[in-house]
Amino acid sequence: SNNKIDSRGALIVLEGLDRCGKTSQCSRLLSYLEELGHSVESWRFPDRNTGVGQMISSYLENKSHLDDHAIHLLFSANRWEKRSLMESKLKSGTTLIIDRYSFSGVAFSSAKGLDVEWCKAPEAGLLAPDIVIYLDISPEKAAERGGYGGERYEQLEFQKRVAQSYKMLRDSTWKIVDATLPIEDVEKQLRQIVMECVLKCQKGKPFVELWQ
Ligand code: TMP
Repeated sequence: SNNKIDSRGALIVLEGLDRCGKTSQCSRLLSYLEELGHSVESWRFPDRNTGVGQMISSYLENKSHLDDHAIHLLFSANRWEKRSLMESKLKSGTTLIIDRYSFSGVAFSSAKGLDVEWCKAPEAGLLAPDIVIYLDISPEKAAERGGYGGERYEQLEFQKRVAQSYKMLRDSTWKIVDATLPIEDVEKQLRQIVMECVLKCQKGKPFVELWQ
């Protein structure tokens, strides 16, 4: 459209190893944006509330076994079932802060030895985030934080491979933040990064799809 500005919400994704602090930073960002009067929601993947999400949850809790390819496709399906809601929220001006997305999908499955291109394929056509914030912490430091809850992937050797996989997924939409800084310093950096992105999307920024 010629001079109409297609204002929209921002799609912001936080990624990182287990215990990197993503989840608490997501909730801090949510309250910050709410206090500023923005329309904002925080989501997470896997979304364990759907039927697919319940299958994923039981797998992660070691209550069921699934072939590596099958569970990969379930994680992807779990994002596809939220795609249209995601697009309509963004179009209506709501910013989404998302705890994990397709990058977790590829990083965790390829850390098991699945082919990276095979892992990326089912993600093609999902909305690409406007920004990916990677909370950077070494697998050793993350493990020291304790609280690995005993879910399937929460083991040091595996997390080391996940960290390697994440590295090759980085592109120009990624911001790497040192997750070992004090929690308030991390928060401050995230606020800056996110506000800049929210304003850009308010001014109108075209949607992009994965993976291009
Ligand atoms: P959570 O602890 O953030 O709920 O995530 C559960 C686990 O699932 C975590 O170890 C990362 C992993 N995961 C995948 O393997 N593939 C995916 O697509 C997503 C979103 C998460």
